[in-house]
Amino acid sequence: MGKKVYIESYGCQMNVSDSEVVASILAKQGYEAVDRAEEADLILLNTCSVREKAEQTVLNRINEMNRLKANNKDLKVGVLGCMAERMRENLLVEKKVVDLVAGPDAYRSLPHLLDEVGTGQRAVNVLLSREETYGEIVPVRLNSNGVTAFVTIMRGCDNMCAFCVVPFTRGRERSRDPYTIVEECAKLVADGYKEVTLLGQNVNSYRWNVDAKGNLKDPSRPVVDFADLLEMVALACPSLRIRYSTSHPKDMTDKVLEVMARHDNICKYIHLPVQSGSSKVLKDMNRGYTREWYLERVASIRRHMPDCALSTDIISGFCGETEEDHRATLSLMEEVGYDMAFMFKYSERPKTLAARRMEDDVPEEVKSRRLTEIIDLQRENSAKLMARYVGQVQEVLIEGVSKRSAGQMQGRNTQNAMVIVPRYGSAVAPGRRGLMPGDRVQVRITASTAGSLQGEPLIPSGPIPAEA
Ligand code: SAH
Ligand code: SF4
Ligand code: F3S
Repeated sequence: MGKKVYIESYGCQMNVSDSEVVASILAKQGYEAVDRAEEADLILLNTCSVREKAEQTVLNRINEMNRLKANNKDLKVGVLGCMAERMRENLLVEKKVVDLVAGPDAYRSLPHLLDEVGTGQRAVNVLLSREETYGEIVPVRLNSNGVTAFVTIMRGCDNMCAFCVVPFTRGRERSRDPYTIVEECAKLVADGYKEVTLLGQNVNSYRWNVDAKGNLKDPSRPVVDFADLLEMVALACPSLRIRYSTSHPKDMTDKVLEVMARHDNICKYIHLPVQSGSSKVLKDMNRGYTREWYLERVASIRRHMPDCALSTDIISGFCGETEEDHRATLSLMEEVGYDMAFMFKYSERPKTLAARRMEDDVPEEVKSRRLTEIIDLQRENSAKLMARYVGQVQEVLIEGVSKRSAGQMQGRNTQNAMVIVPRYGSAVAPGRRGLMPGDRVQVRITASTAGSLQGEPLIPSGPIPAEA
């Protein structure tokens, strides 16, 4: 009775979302989620394998967690997620460091695995599934700000980008029943949430009610693609702000852009990972598009939504990348003008096409220098693009107290830029409460940096009641 679980998530937002499914499955077993490892009877690390460094961080963390066993001999430590899938029994047998290992498709078996662990065994389940979407499981929100939430719409990835471990750790692509997605979003609205991010490794290849061969599964129901799903959620939850991540450039259709343009509640922001600006490198990466094709998709985004913000992921120093290829990446960055970017040094991952067939031949110092050039250029671009908002009035959804000062609140505009506003702006009449998480306010942007905007709230967009 009164068992406590502490879950820590690494890697992408999918893991954050999966941890909430895990918390839900464990809640049915009487586990309460706590936010301090020291209080827990069960510690679960939901892990990432995308780069070697990500795995190293977790291996160190496992040791730290195991040290807590000195004070609590019943404490169990488990590994979930992508590293669990990739390292499997090695995590228990060779490294002998954890009690439990469960891969991304094995979370329904956690109660059973915990029973095994309870009898002193070490337990493992890393079976991948073609079907599992945890569709009907209502997640227990962890570390929630009560305003924004993630909803997973698909799992796995079939793309086989040459550098990427995800298809090996997450298995085949499958789409979740859209009706359960809409239901989950509607429940979030009922619970007071104001924004949802629809999640998947490649959301725009979402396709429901077709089998692996593309044949209709249930003739009494329609086929639902990503654009359809986006519109279903936008219509069912008109007060909810909707975002999504991540989309793959090769699947970014005009139909999706039309739906985005048509609905004010779909945020004007797209994360469109390019990885490289060189068509030759893109081909080696098996990305399925060229530089020209990518730029055409960006042009189409701008045609449909002139004010849409764009962000991206870039890898420096992939196998065979020349100085000329690298300059092509810099010039593409100039041409597109990304509001934001996640930038990485190539890290070879076991089993991937690149690891098996290509040579990791760009020297470490060259990778680092190229990455620095990419980061510097992005910082300049971000600063320039953020400055365009100064003087504009923007709607901001307040998420919480600013990390920098308790007298300030932070939120985001539709383009996903962070906006900092005073909690008690000059426009807030005396006797009225200051801004609260969940408020939507019109904000005049007064200053910008590469990473955030500052503003002054104008007339509150909703009625702000007197302080209780
Ligand atoms: N599904 C998403 C990306 C998932 S991984 C997509 O296709 O866009 C997130 C990012 O990590 C990738 O976009 C890529 O830029 C980076 N990444 C993936 N594998 C990597 C590797 N082996 N080395 C360095 N960066 C990598
Ligand atoms: Fe990895 Fe490519 Fe799939 Fe993204 S689309 S998860 S980069 S294989
Ligand atoms: Fe990492 Fe797995 Fe996400 S490898 S990026 S946690 S899908």
